[in-house]
This record gives sequence, C-alpha cells and structure tokens, in this order.
Amino acid sequence: MRIASWSITIAGVLVAALLAQSSLSTQDVDAVRKVDSLREFGRYLFYDPELSADSSTSCGTCHQQFAAFAHVDHAVSHGVYGRIGTRNVPALQNLHQQTSFMWDGAFENLAMQSVNPLTGHAEMGSSLPEVLRRIAASPRYQQFAAALYADKKITIPRILDALAAFTGSITSTSSRYDAMRDGKIMFAEHEQRGLALFRKLCAGCHTEPTFMSNAYTSNGLPLDTLMPDVGRYRVTQQEEDRYRFRVPSLRNVAITYPYMHDGRFRRLRDVLEYYGTPSMHAAYADQRISDIGTLNDSQRKDIIAFLLTLTDTLLPRDLRYRDPHLP
Ligand code: HEC
Ligand code: HEC
Repeated sequence: MRIASWSITIAGVLVAALLAQSSLSTQDVDAVRKVDSLREFGRYLFYDPELSADSSTSCGTCHQQFAAFAHVDHAVSHGVYGRIGTRNVPALQNLHQQTSFMWDGAFENLAMQSVNPLTGHAEMGSSLPEVLRRIAASPRYQQFAAALYADKKITIPRILDALAAFTGSITSTSSRYDAMRDGKIMFAEHEQRGLALFRKLCAGCHTEPTFMSNAYTSNGLPLDTLMPDVGRYRVTQQEEDRYRFRVPSLRNVAITYPYMHDGRFRRLRDVLEYYGTPSMHAAYADQRISDIGTLNDSQRKDIIAFLLTLTDTLLPRDLRYRDPHLP
C-alpha cells in the first residue's frame, strides 16, 4: 500500500503560513484552503468512535486534549470492549519533530502509525476495509472528499493522511518556558535553579526546546516482571536495544501523568525520587543516569518547579484541536 507522505502535509502548512503573510493569488488561497480542510477532515476522524469495532472508542478517547493528548490517570491504555493495552498513552505534540513514533519507534511514518490503533485488538479493534466502509458511507466525510480530491473518493491512504494532518498540526510552543526563552518573562529563582540543574543532568537526553530526542536509551527503570517490555529490542532484535525506549518529550509533563512507558509513576515527585536515588537504577541504565547521582530534597523540588514551566497555556484548549462534536 502506498501512503501519501505526511511531510508533504507539513510542508503545506508551512507554505500556508508563509503565504498568509504575503498577498495571495487565487491558486494560493486554494492551496491554503486544502490544507485546512485536510486537517479538519482529520479532526473529525480523530474524534469519531465509528472508527472502532464497537463504536465506543475514538482516537480522542485515549488521547485527551486537556492532557496534551495523553490519557490522564490510566497507567496503560483502555480500548474497545474494555480491553487493556500494555503501554501508557503518550502525549501528541510537535510530532513533526519526531522521526519515529511509539515508545519503541515501531513506526517511522506518522500516517502509517494510525493503522496500529485502528486495527489493534486492545485499541480500536477494527479492520481497514471496515473503517473505509463506514467513513465512505458518511455524508460529512463525502463533503470533505468532494472539497479535497478531484475524483471525490475516500480511500484508506487518504483517511490515514488526514489523521496525520491533524495530529501533525498539534503544536506546543506557548509555555512559560517559551515565554522565558523569548525574553518575555523571567523565571522565579527556584525555577531558574531547576533549569540549571535540568541542563546539567537531564538535557543530554531531553533536549531543549522539544525536550525529547529521537534516540533510544535506558533511563534504568527496573523490569516490571508482571508486564515485561523489551522496548526497542522488539523492533530491531539487537541485544543492545533491550529495555531501551525513545526519549519522550517533557513538554506538558505536569498534565500528562502517569509517567514512563508503563505509567508506573503517578507523580513528578515519584519520578524525581527515582532519578535521584542511584540504588533504584537497573544495571542497564545509560551512563548519564549514573552521572545524576543523589538528588536532595530541594534539588528535586527545583527541578519539578522547572518542569511545571513546560505546561502549554494554549494547546489544552486550542479550538483547532477540539472535539468538533462538543457543544
Ligand atoms: C486504546 C487507546 C488508544 C487509542 C484508541 C489510540 N491510541 Fe494512539 N497511542 C496509544 C498508546 C498506548 C500509544 C503508545 C503505543 C506504543 O508505544 O506501543 C499510542 C501512540 C500513538 C502515537 C505515537 C506518538 C509518539 O510520540 O510516538 C500517535 C501519533 C497516535 N498514537 C495516534 C493515534 C491516532 C491517530 C489514533 C486513532 C486512529 C489513536 N492514536 C488511537 C493509545 C491509543
Ligand atoms: C540517559 C537519558 C536520560 C536522562 C539523562 C534523563 N532521562 Fe528522563 N527519560 C529517558 C527515557 C528513555 C525515558 C522513557 C523511559 C521509559 O518510559 O521506559 C524518560 C522518561 C522521563 C519522564 C517520563 C515522561 C513521560 O511522559 O512519561 C520524565 C518526567 C523524565 N524522564 C524526566 C527526567 C528528568 C527530570 C531528568 C534529569 C533528572 C531525566 N529525565 C534524565 C531518558 C533520560
């Protein structure tokens, strides 16, 4: 199956942003409108429970806007027929900065990634033909297709492309940290101390300004023997990748709890206790984790104060990302 590249969509968004500043020709206006309607098509799909086998679960059921599109309070995901998944739902933001997706990087293409939740047994439990059948029968989606495609047809690649256009448009750039970087505000002293500690101990992996990296490593979490997860090894079958995970973004971390691939920590306090207690780290931890050493109480508090500055003021209530079925 050939999937239209989502990077084309992102390029489209950029072009649209550039064009918005200049005077537009009719052709340009047309192009901008197409990008907008593709994203809208994707937004309706994202919040549509008809995409799941029992019409109970949409993408937005697990990826909640008020939690930066993570799932608050669920250690691991819950899907159709009450089925329980094995991993914590990650936030969705700044996805165009990511070169791979999922905790283990199982997908390198955002559009293709959607096949996994749509057909996953513990997620939406449907099949691509069934998804297509339901979407193609809907007058609303027929309208989107008529506006977007010369042949007016709805196809699986177009559904996947629209979902990626929507999720790829979710950006986090309006936190206190961003305002500080832009020189608009000053951090309080404890936030400033937290930032300095963060830069010394954490930023080697959680790289500014996205606070993620496209690398796989182990932060030393001991294996959960009841729910063992080999991480990146599942994808590469390389011994060195055992127990490694993608370095997740810490943007909006205050609202995306619980934490880690299996949601084992409920509070940021627990996370800092973990990083700051060397005896808790497994032998396969990255050297940079051992380098953190013991963190005392005030250091932990300062780092948390800094992490709280990463909460976006816009993303959780941005109308462009909102469930269109809400009043
Ligand atoms: C049942 C809950 C559930 C549903 C429904 C769901 N997801 Fe997810 N999503 C997850 C979990 C859990 C992961 C992490 C999976 C992993 O790492 O193996 C994830 C990962 C992702 C990622 C990768 C994010 C990253 O940073 O790597 C994207 C993108 C995504 N989902 C989009 C979607 C879209 C689009 C839909 C609807 C078609 C959807 N999800 C439906 C639970 C869900
Ligand atoms: C060696 C690289 C590395 C360093 C250094 C590091 N981390 Fe991490 N961090 C990771 C990885 C990898 C994960 C994901 C682990 C998992 O889920 O199994 C992670 C996960 C997290 C999470 C959970 C995010 C979520 O959405 O679930 C938080 C919070 C976090 N780190 C904060 C910190 C802080 C604070 C520091 C510094 C004290 C730090 N990290 C240092 C690699 C690192």
